[in-house]
Amino acid sequence: MKFFHTVLSFTLLVSILIGCSSEQSTEILNSNVSIDSSGALSGGDTTIFDGSSHAFSIPAPNLSAAALEKHLEGDVEFEAVFVTAPAVVNPGLGPIYNNVSCINCHARDGRGRPPGVDEKFVSMLFRLSLPNTENEGDVKSPIPVPGYGTQLNNRAIYGTPAEGSVKIEYSEQPLTTEDGTRVHLRYPNYTVTDTYQPLPENVEVSPRVAPVVFGLGLLEAIPEKTILTYADETDVNGDGISGKPNYVWDVIKKRYMLGRFGWKANQPTLLQQVASAYHDDMGVTTSLFPLENSTGQSQLKENRITPEVSDEILDVVTFYVQTLAVPARRNVDDPQVIHGEQLFAQAQCASCHVPTLRTGVLPGVPSVSNQTIHPYTDLLLHDMGPDLADNRPDFHASGTEWRTPPLWGIGLVRTVNGHTNFLHDGRARNLMEAILWHGGEAEQSRQTVLEMSKTERDALIAFLESL
Ligand code: HEC
Ligand code: HEC
Repeated sequence: MKFFHTVLSFTLLVSILIGCSSEQSTEILNSNVSIDSSGALSGGDTTIFDGSSHAFSIPAPNLSAAALEKHLEGDVEFEAVFVTAPAVVNPGLGPIYNNVSCINCHARDGRGRPPGVDEKFVSMLFRLSLPNTENEGDVKSPIPVPGYGTQLNNRAIYGTPAEGSVKIEYSEQPLTTEDGTRVHLRYPNYTVTDTYQPLPENVEVSPRVAPVVFGLGLLEAIPEKTILTYADETDVNGDGISGKPNYVWDVIKKRYMLGRFGWKANQPTLLQQVASAYHDDMGVTTSLFPLENSTGQSQLKENRITPEVSDEILDVVTFYVQTLAVPARRNVDDPQVIHGEQLFAQAQCASCHVPTLRTGVLPGVPSVSNQTIHPYTDLLLHDMGPDLADNRPDFHASGTEWRTPPLWGIGLVRTVNGHTNFLHDGRARNLMEAILWHGGEAEQSRQTVLEMSKTERDALIAFLESL
């Protein structure tokens, strides 16, 4: 075993010395020399080597002492449990909400899942809106549902009615690959139940599980013009894959900005993403969203003038999600993994899940600036076909479009979160199911996978598991 390791490291060393053939070969970043011959350093200098259940919760190793202190202050706030006002610590929960802390949904800074049979909703929520029939060109800003707003709050503080709940029913449908392997996909059906007042018939409902929260500062630091080079809205290159940027409302700049975060790229910055999480998910107000999420509804008791969370707390929590480390890839020299990586490229997965990007400068966050990273996303919207559609437009995102999710760390979700539920609503029960749900612009990729041999499909999965 020891001998084997030595041979492996020797091979690695040789390939570094003679220069690697892959395009992610040896990189020299500023004054620090960082060697990434195999693309294992997924987060550049913010990469950590930890494949344990803590893999998503580690501060970036290149933070200064002062920055680490700020990160750790943010960590405390990310875990803070909010309670009903008045209270000494963390008051301001609700009156209507989905959960009481950030970490309850983003468990171990990882991802959520739909509830099992007879389980309550914990880390999954439902966005709501009315059809936007205004002719604003392509932009369909979500129209709040009277009495509900833009999100179903399934919990409420004592003595207050929650907005309602959701029933999920799955129906299994079989699918056969070219080589005769049978796979079942579970089709979800969502029904809003227990509403405190009738919901309009034409309400649009979008299910979403909590995504992982590491590596996000790096994604925020990718220059807009880099992202736009991957956009090909009218498919000029004729590969069947377009890719379109979302432009969403920035409440501070008071104009439309490139959307990057959320399953439909409907948030422009992490600051706004965090403030809307406090507001929409926990009923906690900030200077960005100073009105309670129950404003205009019968649950509203009083609208406090002072934000329930200060700008200082908002700042440290934002910094926290900007500076969580990205776990390094594992088993990069395994021949099966290398084969899988080639198949990933051949099946055009890399056209949307872009392997390598370079960050620019994120003001105030030097640790994520000027890094070569391997996030496996283009941060653009793609039509994924009718089966994955939520039919709820979100700014420029149509009812069938989703943002390409980053794939870094995806092989560690089982270890960190104890499940392998993937896609925006966790319907896929493993990585292969997630791939087989791909349609629309990714239909050709899906076909390629269906035509693969079992050995090839196993290699593709082994590659994804190494991320
Ligand atoms: C009820 C569960 C829930 C709670 C509580 C919650 N989140 Fe989230 N979070 C989500 C979901 C679901 C999404 C995806 C939203 C979407 O696509 O519209 C999300 C998205 C995010 C994202 C964007 C991730 C990405 O890759 O785009 C960040 C950052 C985030 N949340 C941080 C926080 C913080 C900070 C808090 C606490 C202030 C918090 N969340 C509280 C469920 C939750
Ligand atoms: C046209 C762009 C596109 C192509 C091509 C594509 N994907 Fe995706 N992929 C997406 C989008 C968008 C989603 C999110 C869909 C959703 O959640 O409903 C996704 C989701 C995934 C997920 C689940 C991620 C998560 O966090 O839940 C995996 C795994 C994945 N893709 C792997 C692949 C593989 C492997 C291929 C090639 C066989 C591929 N993709 C091809 C756009 C693409």
